[in-house]
Amino acid sequence: MAKTAKHKRPRVVKSVKALRDAMSDWRKRKLPIALVPTMGALHAGHISLVDLAKKSAKKVVVSIFVNPTQFGPNEDFSRYPRTLEADLDKLTQAGADLVFMPDAKEMYPEGFSTMLTPSGPAAVGLDDKFRPGHFSGVATVVAKLFTSVMPDIAIFGDKDYQQLQVIKTMARDLHLPVKVIGAPVIREKDGLALSSRNVYLSAADRAAAPILHKTLKQSAKAIKQGEAADAVLARGREQIAAAGFKIDYLELRDAATLAPAPEDKKSKKRLLVAAKIGNTRLIDNIAV
Ligand code: PAJ
Repeated sequence: MAKTAKHKRPRVVKSVKALRDAMSDWRKRKLPIALVPTMGALHAGHISLVDLAKKSAKKVVVSIFVNPTQFGPNEDFSRYPRTLEADLDKLTQAGADLVFMPDAKEMYPEGFSTMLTPSGPAAVGLDDKFRPGHFSGVATVVAKLFTSVMPDIAIFGDKDYQQLQVIKTMARDLHLPVKVIGAPVIREKDGLALSSRNVYLSAADRAAAPILHKTLKQSAKAIKQGEAADAVLARGREQIAAAGFKIDYLELRDAATLAPAPEDKKSKKRLLVAAKIGNTRLIDNIAV
C-alpha cells in the first residue's frame, strides 16, 4: 500500500509579490522563518538543510533558481540539471512550507543594474580565481533572496565553504537581519560529497572521484599531527592528479577569512580543494 504523505505539497510562488502575500500571515503571527536557497536538482545534501531549517524555525521557505549571473560564459548554465517534479516531491516529503521559484525576468528585470562586488573571503584566490564573477552573482542573488523572503535564518551547506563565508560577510556588511547558518557536508558512502553536478560523471570518473575526500582526510590528519603543510599539500596534489584530475587548488586556509593559513597551531583552519575530471568540476573541503 502506498504510504500516505505526511505533509501537504508546498505552495509554489513565482513572483516576489506572491511570495510576500503568501508569507504575510506568518509575518503577522511573528512566526520564525527559515530560508534554504537552492538551484534545484535536489539531493540528500539539500534536504539535510531543509531538515535543519524545520528544526530551527516554524516555517520553511525553499528557493529554487538557477541563477544565470553566477555562471561563467563557458560554464554549465544551460545544461545544469533541472528536475522540478522530483524536487517538489522531495520538498513535500521534507515538509517545506513554501517554494519560491522565480524566473530570470523576476530576479533580473530589464534594466537591472545593481550587482554586488564582494571582496574579503570572495577574493582570496580559491574559486574566485577560477570562476571570475561567480561570487558577485552569488552575493547579488542571495542578497535579493534575503530581501525578498526576509527570513530570520538562512541555511547553507559547508560543502560550498567559500560561498558560505562570502554570504556571512555580505549579510553582515549590508546589515541584513538574517542569521546565516552553515550545515555539515552530506556524502556518499565512499566519501564523495553529494552534488547536483555528480550526474555529469562517467562511470570511470565516478569511481575516481572519492580521491578528493580521501586526500582531504589524509592531509588534515597529517597536518594535525604536525607535518609541514607545504609538503602535505604537495603530496595531496600529486595523489589527486594521479587519479586523473586536473587540480585548480588544494589549499590550507584560515577557516573564517580564508586568507592563507597562519603557521600557528591554534587558529581554526580549513583545507579546500577544487579539481576537474572529464568536463566536471568538483569541490570539497574539510575542517583541520
Ligand atoms: P546549490 O548548489 O543548489 O546548493 C544549495 C545549497 O545546498 C548550498 O548551501 C550548498 O552548500 C548546499 N549543498 C550542496 N551540496 C551539499 C552537500 N553535499 N551537503 C550539504 N549541503 C550541500 O549553492 C547554490 O546552490 C547557489 O550558489 C545558491 C546559494 C542557491 C545561490 O544561487
